[in-house]
Amino acid sequence: MRKKIIAGNWKMNKTPSETVALLNELKPLVANDDVDVLFCVPAISLTTAMETVKGTNINIGAENMYFEESGAYTGEIAPNMLTDIGVKYVIIGHSERREYFAETDETVNKKVLKAFEHGITPIICCGETLTQREQGVTIDFIRQQIKIALLNVTAEQAKTAVIAYEPIWAIGTGKVATTEQAQEVCKAIRECVAEIYDAATADAIRIQYGGSVSAASAPELFAQPDIDGGLVGGASLKADFGKIVNYNK
Ligand code: 13P
Repeated sequence: MRKKIIAGNWKMNKTPSETVALLNELKPLVANDDVDVLFCVPAISLTTAMETVKGTNINIGAENMYFEESGAYTGEIAPNMLTDIGVKYVIIGHSERREYFAETDETVNKKVLKAFEHGITPIICCGETLTQREQGVTIDFIRQQIKIALLNVTAEQAKTAVIAYEPIWAIGTGKVATTEQAQEVCKAIRECVAEIYDAATADAIRIQYGGSVSAASAPELFAQPDIDGGLVGGASLKADFGKIVNYNK
């Protein structure tokens, strides 16, 4: 039985001091032993966020990481900078990074491999545009993203990975995918993982849905057989996130 993982992606929101305040506000609201709870926050807030959640059920993740160990890469964050402060999760290949910061399936793969090398769990993002959905190529496109992201990743590593399916047209639009649409693609991702590896790996990997998840839509989405939680943007910055984490109560 896969444990649900529900993550907030704060994107470029909240200063370090606002981060401490919001985490303290959310702490009592996000206790749920059935769920791994995670907040991915801007890099500048990672250290204080880690200190703020010490002793709670909350994990802290990064929103990005570079695929080199160190060196002349101005502005980038190295994997050992994350592990040094205890960060164990990182979002890789969010559609906003692909769109605005020129990330490709190939750089996503390099980052995924580097994260595993350092014992950091990657949350690997994939998702189609509205045009791709309307043209009926969603599953083909997602399969390509997954196959390249997991190139040279071992089955043992893949078992611990998290994949976030986030249709781009549903991000920040208030237009949540229907439960059937989300389940269909998450199932296709699991089948793709089974093809690349085996049934045991497909059974172990956790697949999230993301895109306008709210307290109202979470219970039905997370009840689907292939949806193991969510990657939540806007609603993770509000007390409502407590209701999303406690979707099963
Ligand atoms: P919203 O929940 O704001 O649509 O954002 C989803 C997302 O991009 C999470 O990574």
